[in-house]
Amino acid sequence: MPLIHLENLSRRYVMGAEVIHALRSVSLSIEKGEYVAIMGASGSGKSTLMNLIGCLDTPTEGRYQLNGHEVSSLDDDQLAEIRSREIGFVFQTFNLLPRSTALQNVELPLVYAGVSRSDRQARAIEALTHVGLLDRMRHKPNELSGGQRQRVAIARALVARPSIILADEPTGSLDSTTGAEIMSLFGELSDKGNTVILITHEESIALRARRIVRLRDGNIFADKPVLEASLPETEGEAPPGPPSPPARAGE
Ligand SMILES: Nc1ncnc2c1ncn2[C@@H]1O[C@H](COP(=O)(O)OP(=O)(O)OP(=O)(O)O)[C@@H](O)[C@H]1O
Ligand SMILES: [Mg+2]
Repeated sequence: MPLIHLENLSRRYVMGAEVIHALRSVSLSIEKGEYVAIMGASGSGKSTLMNLIGCLDTPTEGRYQLNGHEVSSLDDDQLAEIRSREIGFVFQTFNLLPRSTALQNVELPLVYAGVSRSDRQARAIEALTHVGLLDRMRHKPNELSGGQRQRVAIARALVARPSIILADEPTGSLDSTTGAEIMSLFGELSDKGNTVILITHEESIALRARRIVRLRDGNIFADKPVLEASLPETEGEAPPGPPSPPARAGE
């Protein structure tokens, strides 16, 4: 059973007399351990999809099973409970508490999860070590660089050991070098078996994932593994690919 299973999921927003179809009957399955980039033009529905996958919002229609549980009809408290257990969020603008230290920011999800103070600290220190920021744990966000802030946010996303890491334009506020460092970190998380879903509108970022889902006007119009997706779409000769595998003997 896939970790994430969306079936004919729709999200409409009603704005006075206008109805906005932000997502139109989207179906999508993501297995545990996958590394998926979600791409699409501004307004194509990426954040709407992420909010639904992240249980920040509920669909107008359709089904969403997370870890085998139907979540599309849960109430706000139940969704909050699922979020704190299953989902680690990373946002473009980091969303750190400005007056709290890196350590306190990373501890926060564990406060909500009811973890004891000493365990909280130990686990937050472990997560900060993981992102290479142990020596900055007493710093507040304004005493950190942009890349360091995003690493704190990633440590915060990881600390409760969620089953999914959801990142909405995590490199959008960073210069390209710092962005590349953050992308290496996501690559490592994926290599360690985490499920990573990342929204981006940069092709070069998306190519670091292993699968690219493309949205247009609230629909998925392409969903391909990265090797295939990175090839030219149409026309011309087939690009030189790897040689075909040798015929297997004895089958
Ligand atoms: N809360 C809301 N109320 C009304 N309409 C909304 C709301 N949120 C999003 N929309 C509309 O739904 C559509 C999809 O928005 P969404 O935020 O998912 O786009 P996006 O792909 O994330 O774009 P961007 O790349 O600019 O972040 C847009 O047309 C947007 O205007
Ligand atoms: Mg968005």
